[in-house]
Amino acid sequence: MGRINAVITGVGGWVPTYILDNEEMSTIVDTSDEWIMERIGVKTRHILKPEEGTGTSFMMTKAVKQLLDKTGVDPDSIDAVIAATCTFDYHFPSTASLIIGNLDLKNAFGFDLEAACAGFLYAMEQAASLICSGRHKRVIVCGGDHMSSMTNYQDRNTCPIFGDGAACVLMEATEEEVGLIDSYLRVDGKGYDNLHMAAGGSARMPSHETVDERLHFVYQEGRAVFKHAVTDMSDAVVTIAQRNGLNKDNVTWIVPHQANVRIESAVARRIGVSEDHVMINIDHMANTSSGTLPLCLWEYEPLLKKGDKIIFTAFGAGFTWGASYMIWGYDGSKFADTPAEFYKEGMISREEWYAKRRKAQQ
Ligand code: UT7
Repeated sequence: MGRINAVITGVGGWVPTYILDNEEMSTIVDTSDEWIMERIGVKTRHILKPEEGTGTSFMMTKAVKQLLDKTGVDPDSIDAVIAATCTFDYHFPSTASLIIGNLDLKNAFGFDLEAACAGFLYAMEQAASLICSGRHKRVIVCGGDHMSSMTNYQDRNTCPIFGDGAACVLMEATEEEVGLIDSYLRVDGKGYDNLHMAAGGSARMPSHETVDERLHFVYQEGRAVFKHAVTDMSDAVVTIAQRNGLNKDNVTWIVPHQANVRIESAVARRIGVSEDHVMINIDHMANTSSGTLPLCLWEYEPLLKKGDKIIFTAFGAGFTWGASYMIWGYDGSKFADTPAEFYKEGMISREEWYAKRRKAQQ
């Protein structure tokens, strides 16, 4: 038997119906559409309202259900579910256990993985390890966050950045030379001061004071994080490219964490890849933390072809960051006719979105 690789064989996704645009954001904090578009590149973000559902597991369950329906994979054949998130429904039980229970995945084990915005990158590596060990064949990797549950809508420095959403991929064993080929993952443990949620964990338990002091929200020093994100993601992309003989002429896609459109452009410039080879959806998805990479795959899936060379990169609290190299395993067009919930009334269709995206890239 040849070497076992772990390859993505399907993508599912889900975003809440409610769309918070910059106009509405300007009624919440002192900001403007011009500032947000120029400094961040976000126009609209999806927000999970209690009347639609609650918790990250709600969104991930929808995404996994779509993945299973679309691929036709037997739910009983799923060996594991990894949920990358930093907005767990509860400290315990895990978000993964809730998803497994909701969908009755009888033969799956599962766990949550917290690496902030780099979570999905780490989780893909974990899934690949499970598969390449030979003991597990099908692993679902979810990435997503209910960021509005920890966004301080009194802080204009952070609240325009974030949105809610989740997506997932099915990773399977293959002997073909496709799938996750290499990963370069890092943590420096020095990022606390610049990016954290101060209370709610065992170091500072919830209390009246922590609520009054608004310590259960994201705290970010944007400029410092920006500098680290640009440098560390760019370095990681260059490292993974050099290790695998990749360059601007043979990379098909860069999939960067959607934190700021200026960061994404800077990372693409560093490796010299033109922007029409960079997946970008920050304008209508915002920063969904662990959700950004799989949500990009979900939206770009019909454009992906077997053999595409893809570099993923992300950066998050910790600091955590890295890059992974993947050879894509199937023609995404095979799922083009699949009705996704994304088509639901009132939301832009996938065709319209690609047309818009291509025009913007010309
Ligand atoms: O996902 C995890 C990783 N996160 C990131 O990668 C995020 C990295 N950081 C960023 O994307 C950017 O630093 C931000 C988008 C957070 C901020 O953009 P910036 O260009 O770095 O702005 P700044 O923080 O340097 O602030 C510039 C000015 C300030 O005014 P003064 O002090 O110069 O008078 C802010 O008060 O912009 C002001 N400002 C705003 N103005 C209008 C900050 N937020 C807003 C706002 N609307 N929403």
